[in-house]
Amino acid sequence: MKILAIETSCDETAIAVLKVQKTKIGVDFDILSNQIASQIKIHAPFGGVVPNLAKREHIKNLPILLKRALKEAKLPNGSLASKSDAVAVTYGPGLEPALWTGITFAKKLAKKWRVPLVPVNHLEGHIYSALMQRSKFKIQNKGIFPMLTLIVSGGHTELVLTKNHLRYKILGETLDDAAGEAFDKVARMLELGYPGGPAISKVAKPLSGGLATKLKLPRPMINSKDLNFSFSGLKTAVLYLLRDLEKQKIDIAKLKPEIAHEFQEAVVDVLIRKTIKATEQHKPRTIALGGGVAANDRLREELAKKFPDILLPEKRFTGDNAAMIAVAGYYRFTKRKFDNNPKATGNLRLSKS
Ligand code: KG4
Ligand code: ZN
Repeated sequence: MKILAIETSCDETAIAVLKVQKTKIGVDFDILSNQIASQIKIHAPFGGVVPNLAKREHIKNLPILLKRALKEAKLPNGSLASKSDAVAVTYGPGLEPALWTGITFAKKLAKKWRVPLVPVNHLEGHIYSALMQRSKFKIQNKGIFPMLTLIVSGGHTELVLTKNHLRYKILGETLDDAAGEAFDKVARMLELGYPGGPAISKVAKPLSGGLATKLKLPRPMINSKDLNFSFSGLKTAVLYLLRDLEKQKIDIAKLKPEIAHEFQEAVVDVLIRKTIKATEQHKPRTIALGGGVAANDRLREELAKKFPDILLPEKRFTGDNAAMIAVAGYYRFTKRKFDNNPKATGNLRLSKS
């Protein structure tokens, strides 16, 4: 079968076409096309995503990406053709005006092609992204679950236990800002540009001696017994640090690499400690990483040191993409989770079924 998936939850418009084949031991996936149009340049002057601008861009981009995807995937007659095919679409969590553009577009396509519409949770896409290695990959039926995933994105920071396909338990989550959000806000304070994650990791560099010891930042909740996170205090600590340095007439520009470094280390330390705690408590068979912040090299490095078998998504699948929505969509399709009229749900959560 073939699945065409659409993703418009935030500031990337994405359409992918995957060929999917069931085998005796699992499922073979082949990414025939993976189209992404990034809106970073449009939102950058505002220092964050502007929902109505995102909506406008998605509406503009969707037909262009569809044309490209159908051409690249070489679909017969430029459409899904078989009864066993499906259209998948992200219906949450995310920005509702943005989500609606994808849903409306997907509904029209599914109707026109007479195939089922499968609504997908964006976060389950990020969970499946760690299982996608290269453009042709297999996901076996046995040996993966229970799987622990650290999801770190612009909107979410969660430790999720996947007991079986589509059966999730949130073990811990952020009580305030998401890790990516903290990267974005701190980058704005340091005037490093948007998005903040790549900008911070690019300049981050430890200083030796001197002021370096004074720039120690807190690791919020690192020793708390639960598996929750909190990043807003860390962001505030950076704000106070900058004010303090300014009062002392210290040149902040010179210290930016060290502040960025210490901030990044603080985030990574907390994420690692909580992931270790979660593995001790839940003894998963597989450990995985997902979400935009999964592109962070320090995080990948430290996780790989602690968990040599960890599944790290390829960098092209860490940010928002529609290929991961297609994979999650396939498993929803097999459980006949169709809905021809899904509603955009900004605060959608992962659930047990
Ligand atoms: O998953 P994603 O593309 O969108 C959401 O679902 O939110 O994640 C975007 C987030 C942004 O906050 C961005 O700053 C962060 O991922 N990010 C990074 C890196 N690359 C992207 N954070 C840290 N280091 C990076 N290299
Ligand atoms: Zn995402």
